[in-house]
Amino acid sequence: MNIRYLAPVLMTLLASTAFGEIRYVAAKKLFHLEAGAVSYVFGVNERNELQSVYWGKRLWRDDDLAAPRSDREWASFDNSGNTTPQEYPGWGGGRYIEPCLKVTLPDGVRDLVLKYVSHQIDGDTLKIELKDMTYDLGATLVYRVYPDTGVIRKNAVITNRTKAPLTLESAQSGAWNLPRGEGYRLTYLTGRWAGEWQINQEPIHPGMKVIESRRGNTGHQANPWFAIDEGGRAEEERGRVWFGALGWSGNWRLSIEQTSHQQVRVTGGFNPFDFSYPLAAGESLETPPFYAGFTDGGFGEASRILHRFERAYLLPGGLTSRQRPVLYNSWEATTFSVDEPGQTALAQKAAKLGVERFVMDDGWFGARNNDRAGLGDWTINPKKFPNGLGPLIESVNKLGMDFGLWVEPEMVNPDSDLYRAHPDWAMHFPDRPRTEARNQLVLNMARNDVRDHIFGVLDRLLAESPKLAFLKWDMNLNFSEPGWPEAAPADEKKLWIAYTRNVYEIIDRLRAKHPKLEIESCSGGGGRADMGILTRTEEVWTSDNTDAFDRLRIQEGFSYAYTPKTMMAWVTDVPNYNGRSTPLQYRFLVAMTGSLGIGGNLNKWSDADMSLAAKMVDLYKSIRKTVQEGRLYRLFSPRGDGFTATQYVSEDGRQAVLFAFRTGQHYGYPPPTVKLSGLEERAIYNVKTIDNKLVERLPAVSGAYLMNQGLNLRLGGDFDGTAVLFERQ
Ligand code: GLA
Repeated sequence: MNIRYLAPVLMTLLASTAFGEIRYVAAKKLFHLEAGAVSYVFGVNERNELQSVYWGKRLWRDDDLAAPRSDREWASFDNSGNTTPQEYPGWGGGRYIEPCLKVTLPDGVRDLVLKYVSHQIDGDTLKIELKDMTYDLGATLVYRVYPDTGVIRKNAVITNRTKAPLTLESAQSGAWNLPRGEGYRLTYLTGRWAGEWQINQEPIHPGMKVIESRRGNTGHQANPWFAIDEGGRAEEERGRVWFGALGWSGNWRLSIEQTSHQQVRVTGGFNPFDFSYPLAAGESLETPPFYAGFTDGGFGEASRILHRFERAYLLPGGLTSRQRPVLYNSWEATTFSVDEPGQTALAQKAAKLGVERFVMDDGWFGARNNDRAGLGDWTINPKKFPNGLGPLIESVNKLGMDFGLWVEPEMVNPDSDLYRAHPDWAMHFPDRPRTEARNQLVLNMARNDVRDHIFGVLDRLLAESPKLAFLKWDMNLNFSEPGWPEAAPADEKKLWIAYTRNVYEIIDRLRAKHPKLEIESCSGGGGRADMGILTRTEEVWTSDNTDAFDRLRIQEGFSYAYTPKTMMAWVTDVPNYNGRSTPLQYRFLVAMTGSLGIGGNLNKWSDADMSLAAKMVDLYKSIRKTVQEGRLYRLFSPRGDGFTATQYVSEDGRQAVLFAFRTGQHYGYPPPTVKLSGLEERAIYNVKTIDNKLVERLPAVSGAYLMNQGLNLRLGGDFDGTAVLFERQ
């Protein structure tokens, strides 16, 4: 074989080996982390500080890089420690930028200057020991590179090696320094209940922008993800974008800062608000993983990198995990009125549509006839299920579906046996009112007895129903009165961290003991979706808003950060909660751009609805691998002019699918021509439409034509939608 052909193969092989991706350039004391198309470089400067050097497109020549040298003092108001970009600055030594670590030492000293001590490279992981200049307080920075995605993970383990207790007042996972300069633009996601995943873009100016949660969980209001582009110039498929996300489902914070020396930096980790973490002698605190990446391929490529990264490295089972089954959920059909005959009847209808998983939502346990009672009492309601869950699960299984159940383990209704027995288990401050919402309170999961009780309850539920395949794990209230009276007063604020750790631990133990169990993370919709929970749950309930038109934007925002595989989307009934009605096909197509579910009341669906639904489920099964595990191209944003198009290409390039939606037409104008993306110019694709809304009548067409000339769609009226399939010959 000609060496010319071998060279790229060898290069790919070399690039994809997990080892050798982290280099220490000893002569210059530089660490060069190479991951995918990315280089991340920092080093030890003459003051023994860890100084950031470069983050961007991969650099191949270490000779180009200079040894790190600290910046000069600008003025008495900005000493060199303040202007030199650092990997993990402590608060001390005249630094006014956002610190990664802030501490009060036992003797009252509040000054921390971290210096490099040593490092260790072990395959794709680099560990660096930092230590204060005089005290034995250290931080181990842990970096991991994910070679094929270009994503880098960092976090810190802070250890008190002094002989006395000290208190951490801010413990961040790390800081990402962008190339020095100004004119950057920030993209971030905000929202509220039923309106999550809204995309915001704004210029970064001097000062600090904070996005955070102080609510105890990830939150609907903001998501721990960011993207920053250069000069505000990046587009969907073009331009430099730096992006990242925190893996933490408790109080978090991202501080996007532009210093007075034009240094843009993103610091992220535990939210320092109401934070105080005493560390006894010898004790450590590990901060959450902070993942970040870079691309010069615009926001679209940034999302595709994250999607692949999440599927390969975060989601349970990784790349070998199964595709998400088509799900039915009873909530919108029956709310709390669940019982064996009613659920069985729905299951029979769902099975006819080709549904693969039947999930019974709220209402099956305790005295749960509405949201005023029963939360906390996880025993099967004997009136609704006189024979237990066994017969229902059996009939669901016989219909060819597996069975799932809704739970909300972290909550309690004051009107419940659990609360009557253990009022102290609810989060509270002694002798102060407890703020209820939806008639419920949050259990103090930071307590190990509460953790063990909840684990026991769920473990028993799963043991008693071995065919229980899936839990929808909900959380419908944020923390209030976050007291922990049983803890020592100085330790009470540890609740913020201990709560999340214990929830993670319960899930991890359940999964270890019941390895076939799958879990959906829900918090009144998308209130707990982040890279922490996604390492232990297969999917996320994207939003309680199931109106297909609103969903277009909600799902677009979600897709910036998280893979469509995890994005649960149900087809529900119209008019929706907001009074809007859209056609059934439109609703199906919108839901099919993620992980398809059905949540309507099938008892009310006409024969025509049922047969259209069966056809759409069938179609979904033929494209779901491409949608869930392929590459996503956002061709026309729903934030634009009433026309949305998204396209997915399977990883092997053999299949592509286009979804297009039109809100309404004006004056009979056609929708814009759709030029496809991510195809092979020289390949020929067989074209199949689902409903003949394609103007071109081409049975087969080249990638070059599809991407350059494009296709035209006949979408009229209001809320029209279609899908077109492409199979490579
Ligand atoms: C939350 C969930 C819903 C449903 C209800 C049940 O709001 O997001 O999907 O499960 O609770 O009470």
